[in-house]
Amino acid sequence: MRLRLEVNGERREVDGVWEGESLLYVLRERLGLPGSKNACEQGECGSCSVYMDGILVCSCLVLAGQAEGREVVTVEGIAGGDELHPVQEAFVEAGAVQCGFCTPGFVVATHDLLRREPEPTDAEIREALAGNLCRCTGYEKILDAVRLAAQRTG
Ligand code: FES
Ligand code: FES
Repeated sequence: MRLRLEVNGERREVDGVWEGESLLYVLRERLGLPGSKNACEQGECGSCSVYMDGILVCSCLVLAGQAEGREVVTVEGIAGGDELHPVQEAFVEAGAVQCGFCTPGFVVATHDLLRREPEPTDAEIREALAGNLCRCTGYEKILDAVRLAAQRTG
């Protein structure tokens, strides 16, 4: 089938999409946007998080066909061209990135949190990131990164 959607502000058309294909697969394998990661494909880890019509979703759980006519923003779209977004900078500066596999999902989820709540409490940060799993950092550096991003964007 043919899929038409907007990704990071650009209209895109993809041919030959299989009915069972996920939005994550389309983004990574057909549209050349590998930022969203494929870790569990079961909605458990958050590494594939993107916005669809402004709502945070796990793109591994969204059928490509469900994205027809929608606006999708990936971690690539959060950065302003070659400039990192302050959330991305904060993750780097706080040392919240080790293998980096979870990082795109945390960045998108943090971006979503800070636009809803510019000055989150630690409890609100933990709640907002509860759907994102990291195998490496122990989470403290990630919390530091979110606090730093909040200071800079709040
Ligand atoms: S790959 Fe989508 S939630 Fe893990
Ligand atoms: S930095 Fe490796 S999984 Fe989070």
